[in-house]
Amino acid sequence: MASFMNNMMSALHLGGNPQEDVPKPPSSEELKELREKYEKAGQGQVFNYYDDLKPEEKGALYQQLLPIDPEHINTITDRALHPPNPESEDQDPKLEQLPETATTSTIDSKQGDLDNWYKSGLQLIAENQVSVVLMAGGQGTRLGSSAPKGCYDIGLPSKKSLFQLQAERILRLQHLASKNHEKEGVVVLWYIMTSGPTRKPTHEFFEEHKYFGLDRNNVIIFEQGVLPCISMEGKILLETKSRVAVAPDGNGGLYQALINSGVVQDMEKRGIKHIHMFGVDNCLVRVADPTFIGFSAEKDVDIATKVVRKRNAKESVGLIVQKNGKPDVVEYSEIDTATAEAKDPKDSGLLKFRAANIVNHYYSFRFLQSIPEWAHKLPHHVAKKKIPAIPLDSKTGEQVKPDKPNGIKLEQFVFDCFPFLSMDKFACMEVKREDEFSALKNAPGTGEDDPGTSRTDIMQLGKRFLEGAGAMVVSEGEDSGVEVSPLISYAGEGLEFLRGREIKAPAVIEKEE
Ligand code: UTP
Repeated sequence: MASFMNNMMSALHLGGNPQEDVPKPPSSEELKELREKYEKAGQGQVFNYYDDLKPEEKGALYQQLLPIDPEHINTITDRALHPPNPESEDQDPKLEQLPETATTSTIDSKQGDLDNWYKSGLQLIAENQVSVVLMAGGQGTRLGSSAPKGCYDIGLPSKKSLFQLQAERILRLQHLASKNHEKEGVVVLWYIMTSGPTRKPTHEFFEEHKYFGLDRNNVIIFEQGVLPCISMEGKILLETKSRVAVAPDGNGGLYQALINSGVVQDMEKRGIKHIHMFGVDNCLVRVADPTFIGFSAEKDVDIATKVVRKRNAKESVGLIVQKNGKPDVVEYSEIDTATAEAKDPKDSGLLKFRAANIVNHYYSFRFLQSIPEWAHKLPHHVAKKKIPAIPLDSKTGEQVKPDKPNGIKLEQFVFDCFPFLSMDKFACMEVKREDEFSALKNAPGTGEDDPGTSRTDIMQLGKRFLEGAGAMVVSEGEDSGVEVSPLISYAGEGLEFLRGREIKAPAVIEKEE
């Protein structure tokens, strides 16, 4: 396992890591060959300061440039800057709701169906067929914390981080599956995708916290790829004289990273058949949710996605739809007011298009195995950002930290592969927003999707768990919630010992008393 872990940890160093080794400068032949390749692609500016560099800096720049194909960067930049025009290519995209056979909703499904999915999902967990993939490679710029988002303390009484909440949900599920199926050694493998900026601190955080009680061999941290940052004119930018500016390749970089880092091979070796994937910022995420796994496995789909109900026609969320007969996501900016406001023909109290995307997916293992067949087709998108870089017309080679966007990061989106599937291989499960989705995106005090809203949403969910179990929650002040440790309850179960009790909020329920 150790060598595998090392492999994973060092995977995908397109960006290179200046601290790791002292690279030798290339021979003049090697340098000439590489320089010609970049010049031919119109990207020769990356060698502008080469002659001023110390030998080890020359080596570092050479090592960083070698695996990059500048022609490919030109191609994907050009495609990202000039995407196919929807007006001409796709005259009038036909948007429809997903077929009824592909959808369910925990809000109005029959309890019997939900129970059956839960049972079959828990059985798959007990058979060690289920694993979790967490996307934690984002830089969390809006939140503004220098540590990875998963390490963030959202202010719960327990001070638990997002990583700890997720780890404890896995521990609880392993326990539930083990108990229900009288089986020892139930494992839900946890694959964590990091990026250049988040890999090391994530690894250190898990080490420091002893993997929150999980077996460290079952927590596999891997790294997504990076891409060079580009000027607005399509030129590769230098961060320093000896280093190209790079950035993680977006959450859609997940797919290539799953292959390149050996995760898919590891899953195969360990007999994984069902995968739950989500972003690190949802503090309410039901990690490896048995009901979702059971539903998706029963439908025998390649991808299923959890959604929440769009609050109103104006809410700025992406929507899961059927576009020209294929599963797809449309952004709020892509649909007109009439489409946004259209009512469901079956229930005029609901929006027709209301399936809000929360980046919470089920994948079949066979789908992950097919990544090499389609990954090259995933488009890149342009994100204009402030990138610390040497201006292209610089006389001195000094880095400038811009105060407005000066360049482009190229990003892939994790849902861009949906249309590669036929409709019968895709399903969608609507869940209650207040139970399952609260994103940590913004800095403290913003009032929306910030640490305060995350904390409140967890505490209110805990309160509902207690009330559901027959306890009474009373509060004198504004803080009316209860933090229920995931170690004793995954989704409200196991709290019967509180029936008839009065709990004074705010409170923490950590163990059975
Ligand atoms: P966001 O797009 O919200 O990005 O990521 P972010 O990094 O959390 O925040 P901002 O935009 O910089 O403020 C959604 C999910 O995708 C992951 C994030 O970690 C988060 O779980 N992600 C994003 C990656 O894993 N890699 C990426 O390159 C980008």
